[in-house]
Amino acid sequence: MGPSSDPARVDLHLREKVALVTASSEGLGFACALRLAEAGCQVAICGRRPDVLERARAEIERRTERPVTAIPADLTKPEQIDALFQEVPRRLRRLDVLVANPGGHVPYGGLEDLTEEQWYQAFELLLMSAVRLSRLAVPLMRAQGAGDIVFITSSTVREPPQHLLLSNALQAGVTGFAKTLSRSLASYNIRVNVVAPGYFDTGRVRRRIDDIVEREHVPRQSAALQVAGDVPLGRIGTAGELAELVTFLVSRRAGFLTGATIQIDGGSSHSLF
Ligand SMILES: NC(=O)c1ccc[n+]([C@@H]2O[C@H](COP(=O)([O-])OP(=O)(O)OC[C@H]3O[C@@H](n4cnc5c(N)ncnc54)[C@H](OP(=O)(O)O)[C@@H]3O)[C@@H](O)[C@H]2O)c1
Repeated sequence: MGPSSDPARVDLHLREKVALVTASSEGLGFACALRLAEAGCQVAICGRRPDVLERARAEIERRTERPVTAIPADLTKPEQIDALFQEVPRRLRRLDVLVANPGGHVPYGGLEDLTEEQWYQAFELLLMSAVRLSRLAVPLMRAQGAGDIVFITSSTVREPPQHLLLSNALQAGVTGFAKTLSRSLASYNIRVNVVAPGYFDTGRVRRRIDDIVEREHVPRQSAALQVAGDVPLGRIGTAGELAELVTFLVSRRAGFLTGATIQIDGGSSHSLF
């Protein structure tokens, strides 16, 4: 029995659905692609570095025994997003699920720290990638009569910290975009939701924790909490925990959920909604 047929798993009715997860050769995107493949999806992944992408493709295939489509693409380049959308429907023939994850991190800083170029780069990565992916995905989903879209943003959309001006401005834009889209697409049976992560053990977060462990010789968990601050659950999240939420959201078990922004942050946020 392969790992994708674990009887303890609830059937999410995702078998043979085609899912594109962007920025998915590592980190949260990779975890989402893996979990969707485990749930039975035909998964397409992308990232800029072909070698890392190839490794991710092989890893998901090995763990799920399902073929994975891997297409190199830089989400800040419109022509590469266009090429991605020529390839995915050509190879997989449809598109049922889009997990629009921007990947990467934008610079910290306030008004006087950030350059015009940094603003435009972040605009391309965070907001325009969401817009461009949606413009290409929605016509396919409309033609099929159904679809599910999840945007990955950040828990900072609810409680914007002072040092993240760039991210605060643009992630709020993605949230507004997604909410408006959800209302206009509901009648086409296309659901649109946002997942807003707190701190997760990926890429740059992991490197910051490793630095503290090395410098201060403290246990990993206390180093993680130095980075993440006050997390009532006492730890940062694993990418697999975020992937479980995303997979549930794009399944028909979440069929009445659209237009929502769901925070997953170990209880860090103080806001009521
Ligand atoms: N992890 C957290 O704690 C956390 C918290 C809040 C919000 N988020 C947000 O959630 C998203 C995912 O986070 P993460 O921690 O998984 O990020 P990450 O580890 O930096 O993501 C790395 C993945 O994104 C790909 N990528 C980066 N830039 C790309 C681009 N321009 N085009 C295509 N692929 C690109 C990378 O491949 P290549 O480098 O080969 O392109 C790699 O596959 C990010 O937008 C992040 O801001 C994360």
